[in-house]
This record gives sequence, structure tokens and C-alpha cells, in this order.
Amino acid sequence: MKFGIICVSDRCFRGTCEDQSGPAIAACVQALSAQNEYRLVPDEKEQISAAIIELADDFGADVIFTTGGTGFAPRDVTPEATKAAIDREAPGIAEAIRINSLAITPKAMLSRAVSGIRGKTLIINLPGSPKAVRESIQSIIEVLPHAVETMSGNTQNCGGNYAKE
Ligand code: MTE
Repeated sequence: MKFGIICVSDRCFRGTCEDQSGPAIAACVQALSAQNEYRLVPDEKEQISAAIIELADDFGADVIFTTGGTGFAPRDVTPEATKAAIDREAPGIAEAIRINSLAITPKAMLSRAVSGIRGKTLIINLPGSPKAVRESIQSIIEVLPHAVETMSGNTQNCGGNYAKE
């Protein structure tokens, strides 16, 4: 699978701190990953959307993870930038992450993360800390191969009867 990883952080973009969450994502998906492409953008809606669109349409990522910018701070706009780039929402992914994360910390309710589909690419927002990244990916990693297969139009392994009369 091809993964896009987007770190959304003003401080990392300025170079005043080092991104630890992007490498944490890469480590979590290593077993599934054939190729990763990484982008670092500031907390600017247009730049976040543009990075998502580029990794989906030009790189052809199967899954894009963003990290950071999902909270309540005035400059946290990753969910809005993601909604502007997707065709269809996939709320179950964000719901699963939040439900499982709430069992670890009540602060999980402070993430406004969303997930959705652009073409054949699944986009998943993650919070900004490496700890939150690891906890979040753990909740959903097992369904990613099936999600990607389904987006490509192959519904054979869905378990339902999709035969048209
Ligand atoms: N989710 C998990 N699993 N673990 C965490 O430690 N931290 C929360 C939340 N989600 C956390 C989590 C906190 S403290 C915040 S403020 C929000 O994610 C938003 O984080 P962000 O603004 O870095 O995206």
C-alpha cells in the first residue's frame, strides 16, 4: 500500500521543533507499506488541502494520514481542510479512533478529527502527539487493507450479497 503522511504544524514548519509524529506513523504502518510520501505544512487550510489533494491525485496514495491541528486552538483547521478535499465522509474511522482513545484518556474528546474518501484515497486525521498517533492507528490498522480493496471497487470480501438482480 502507498501511504501519504502529512505533518500539520506551524512550529515544525518554522523549524523550531522536530516532527516526531510523522516518523511514528511511518513506523506504525511499516508492515503494510510499500511506499511512503511525506509533507510538512503549516496550520493553513489551503496548504493542508493542497497537500492532501497532491498526495491523493498525483502520488496516488491509498491512505493519507494527517497529524496535528485537530484540536480547539484557533489555528487548528485540519478537519476543515480535510472536508474541503474529500468527496465522501467516512465517519466510522474517526468514531472508532475516538471511542478507543476515550478508553485511554478523556482528552480524546478534544480532537475534532475527521476521515473521508477522495477518489480511491482514504484520508484519516490523527492528533498531533506521537503517543496519540500510535494509540489512534492501533484502533483502525486492521481494517485498512479491506478499506483500500473496497475503494478500488472490489467488494468480494465484504461478506454481504452484492449481486444485482
Ligand atoms: N487521542 C489519544 N489517543 N491520545 C491522546 O493523548 N490527546 C488529545 C486528543 N486525542 C490524545 C488524543 C488532546 S490532549 C488533544 S488537544 C486533541 O487530541 C487534539 O490534538 P491536536 O490539536 O494535536 O490535533
